[in-house]
Amino acid sequence: MNRPPFQISRRSFLHKSTLLAAASGLPLWYLEREADAQSADAKPPGPNDRPGIALIGCGGQGQGDAGNASRFADIVAVCDVDDRHASAAVQKFSKDGKTVAKYSDFRKLLERDDIHAIVQATPDHWHTLINIAAARAKKDVYGEKPLTLTIAEGRHVINAVRNNHVIFQTGTQQRSSRSFRLACELVRNNRLGQLQEVHVFVPAGIRGGPFQSVPVPAGFDYQFWLGQAPEAEYFTERCHANFRWWFDYSGGPVTDWGAHHNDIARWAIGLDGPVAVEGQITLPALPNGYTTPGEFAATLTWANGVKQYVRTTPDDSPYGAVINENGQRNGVKFIGPNGWIWVNRDGISASDKELLKTPLPADATRLVVSNDHMRNFFDSVRSRKDPVAPVEAGHRSASIGHLIIIALRTGLALTWDPVREQFTGAGADTANGMLARPMRAPYNYDFVG
Ligand SMILES: NC(=O)c1ccc[n+]([C@@H]2O[C@H](COP(=O)([O-])OP(=O)(O)OC[C@H]3O[C@@H](n4cnc5c(N)ncnc54)[C@H](O)[C@@H]3O)[C@@H](O)[C@H]2O)c1
Repeated sequence: MNRPPFQISRRSFLHKSTLLAAASGLPLWYLEREADAQSADAKPPGPNDRPGIALIGCGGQGQGDAGNASRFADIVAVCDVDDRHASAAVQKFSKDGKTVAKYSDFRKLLERDDIHAIVQATPDHWHTLINIAAARAKKDVYGEKPLTLTIAEGRHVINAVRNNHVIFQTGTQQRSSRSFRLACELVRNNRLGQLQEVHVFVPAGIRGGPFQSVPVPAGFDYQFWLGQAPEAEYFTERCHANFRWWFDYSGGPVTDWGAHHNDIARWAIGLDGPVAVEGQITLPALPNGYTTPGEFAATLTWANGVKQYVRTTPDDSPYGAVINENGQRNGVKFIGPNGWIWVNRDGISASDKELLKTPLPADATRLVVSNDHMRNFFDSVRSRKDPVAPVEAGHRSASIGHLIIIALRTGLALTWDPVREQFTGAGADTANGMLARPMRAPYNYDFVG
């Protein structure tokens, strides 16, 4: 490779360490720890450097994210278990006579020394293992939301990121929007008085089925795609974008848009997690089809007494109350004694314009300023300081969706301890049994070392 690596190669260092261990009698673990420390101290890219990056998961979002990242970095490799998607990405990102390298196994791609960071946009059930492998290979990560498939996975990812001193940005890009940040800062600073209610509205899930079993297309490694999820008949409707409507790979409307809006709710509330959760599936999935619900309604209680209502709002839903003057139903509404603030990707509005217009005092609590989520990631890659949506934020916000899913699937009203990250009280045994899932071999934590 012509490009000078931005990091000392851990692999080559480890190779030298093994030889040194043999020659000096020093234990390998000791030299490995030194390799880790040296990698952690490696020189970050300078202001004019363009780090080498790789895309893992070349579907719709991945190609979008990588295109976005290419404003700041050079894409040197792509990886997908579906060769058609990988090839499309190679075609899209090869330029100036330089062909982007193509991989089907992310572990091989992560061995490259010319890759400083990865952009990860696989389906949710693959996020954790790939993020862990990338962190261990000392790659910074822009990782799509929701951070995880289960609550238990979150701690594994956090440990990998922190122990390896890599930068991690969760793909909850609403944190890099002025409207969402303003709403959260106003709420944090009690512009509405003591916050009472948060209403999160997400689009309904798609219902479908029963589906027809068909042969797996050539060039698609379906077993690799299934990964940790249980063995299952191949349907076109199982994979590629439709994965989000199956509990085995995702959480339907709860964790799709929910990952964004619950993140905003939590950013405004400013606490790690709720203390209680309950909910109902109000429009179940169709038999023998997608498994996530069409509609749901859930209530979370926070330690400060705030009630958070999370629900789907299709046009014909009894829960689809018109919630702002434009009748918008996808967004977040904060309510307190002084009125309400409504925010979504179209903008921000309030029950009284003065709630927005009056400046916050100089000593007000301020949130991290980012107006471009990808730029914020690459700024962090350079500064080695956390971005606006670090791994812990990704974990805590994804956990809200996972808590709701456990409540919906068990039908239980549950009490949650956000410090211990355990359910307590009635139903706790059942619910705690759903914090992790069995991972189908070989696609468990051993798969990534
Ligand atoms: N931030 C946002 O606004 C936003 C928007 C859409 C999607 N997303 C997230 O992005 C992710 C991808 O969503 P999508 O709609 O692009 O899905 P998709 O199915 O179109 O793309 C996923 C790709 O990952 C590939 N893949 C699966 N397992 C892999 C593995 N082990 N190694 C390499 N590649 C693998 C698939 O073959 C597919 O090409 C999801 O987690 C989703 O929640 C985020």
